[in-house]
Amino acid sequence: MKRILITSALPYINGVKHLGNLIGSQLPSDVYARFMRALGFEVLFICATDEHGTPAELAAIEKNIPVDDFCKEMWSLQKEIADHFHISFDHFGRSSSQQNHNLTQHFASRLWENGFIEEIEEEQVYSLDDNRFLPDRYITGTCPACAYEKARGDQCENCTKQLNPTDLINPKSTISGSKSLEIRTTKHLFLKQSMLKDRLTKWLDTKEKWPLLAKSIAKKWLNAKEGLKDRAITRDLSWGIPVKKYGSIWPGFENKVFYVWFDAPIAYIAATKEWSDEHKLKESSWKRWWLTDQGAGEVSYVQFMAKDNIPFHTISFPATIFGSGENWKQVDFIKGFNWLLYEGGKFSTSEKRGIFMDKALDLYPADYWRWWLLANAPENSDTDFTWESFQSTINKDLADILGNFISRVSSFSVSKFGHRIPDNNQYGKLEKTTIRKIEIHYGHLIELMKGIEIRKSCNELRSIWVIGNEYLQEAAPWSVFKENPEKSKMIIRFALNLINLYALISEPFIPGTCKKIQDHFQFTKLKKFPENLGLFLHNLSNKHEISVPKILFPKITDEERSKYQQDFSGC
Ligand code: 2FM
Ligand code: ZN
Repeated sequence: MKRILITSALPYINGVKHLGNLIGSQLPSDVYARFMRALGFEVLFICATDEHGTPAELAAIEKNIPVDDFCKEMWSLQKEIADHFHISFDHFGRSSSQQNHNLTQHFASRLWENGFIEEIEEEQVYSLDDNRFLPDRYITGTCPACAYEKARGDQCENCTKQLNPTDLINPKSTISGSKSLEIRTTKHLFLKQSMLKDRLTKWLDTKEKWPLLAKSIAKKWLNAKEGLKDRAITRDLSWGIPVKKYGSIWPGFENKVFYVWFDAPIAYIAATKEWSDEHKLKESSWKRWWLTDQGAGEVSYVQFMAKDNIPFHTISFPATIFGSGENWKQVDFIKGFNWLLYEGGKFSTSEKRGIFMDKALDLYPADYWRWWLLANAPENSDTDFTWESFQSTINKDLADILGNFISRVSSFSVSKFGHRIPDNNQYGKLEKTTIRKIEIHYGHLIELMKGIEIRKSCNELRSIWVIGNEYLQEAAPWSVFKENPEKSKMIIRFALNLINLYALISEPFIPGTCKKIQDHFQFTKLKKFPENLGLFLHNLSNKHEISVPKILFPKITDEERSKYQQDFSGC
């Protein structure tokens, strides 16, 4: 049986993430992880906070607390919020862990040994007013590629181009706003990606099945006119992983640290080691996921991320791995996401525009958000979150289709047969055709989830819920009851079995509600999805007591919708 390693892009530590971040990696990777576990695969699902670099330093300065305290606090908060969204990480680690320090320094040493690191005198922007070099986000300006005016020194978030601070037009300091900048020379370590171009190209050519988004972004950088650029992997900062070679400070790099984008992907591996250390497992237990000569050869490794992360995962990180000359596992499949927009514009942390994960949970249960985001995941293009769409999707899919089915079936059952489950399971023709219909969609759902087609999977699941409603309409137990109560018992027994099925197979998508349903009806919480639906739909025994659950999905009212539309429109 194949094993599946799943990593979700590491969220920056600098603040609570918004819904766009959630659907860009953590949420779809969670659905995939849950679904694959339910199909019987051995899954390891890893994430961590991305703690180094300028975003963390800047956020800590703003809050006026030491950066390591800030990170500790934010790590707990992000972990807590992920838990409330039912994200089922096997481990949520930290890129600042000792494990990541060791591994990052190990990779740098190996890359140096193999000739893929060079010390280069570099021209860098120095701020006279701030009295320091300005790396990455300490500097903003106009993007030379697309003319976006708020491009950062490391990357333009508009066109995804990787930049160097000296590339920016009209640059200014993020710390002081000062424009008194000059270019000075300083020494940095460069990862010689250009030397690995052929190897990377060959490797990428084997990834025919990758979604277009990931492949086309990778190809764009590999085949750029100016060639594949070597990248500086050190920075003039104090917060980060010290630059060491073979365990000692790299001469000349006493006041520098590794670049956050060098150590962050390595933290996927380090967080796996954290997981194994935390559970006091043997060394082999994390290595079997990551070293191809120690078991990882049979692992399928899937990464989830938003599109701006793709260059680092298709070029820089694979180059680090190839350059190490060791048997580290390369990614097998990259699932990239476009942007989620908020009411036609961008989510903006600084302008408080859009919905952030903590606030979202104050308004509605996690499953409302999960369902809307998954059903509308920005897989093929950017997607717009609107309150209208949110209201109508939740009210229709969750309340009218799924919720209503459960409440109709259980209330009818209680009103006609009391609290005992009706005991006739001699299914007839209509039940058998219904099972066959569901089997077809269930088969599609499994294939689609194996291919990580999130929106299409939601459509299949919804169709399975709809079939239940159609069945009920056609079987009409309320009219059958008058002439043939035995038959109406059978109909309700079948419908209750459908609820049991829904609670099981909807779990990857809306786990909170599914647990509620299972608890309410004392359904067995199976770890695996059924292989034979016909058998499964006979599963309920006579021991179940039936009562009507509290409304599972209260509807979103027009008043709520317009109030929140107002509240979250930004300052
Ligand atoms: O874009 C981001 O939010 C980054 N923190 C993602 C890092 S992914 C991985 F490489 F660490
Ligand atoms: Zn740009």
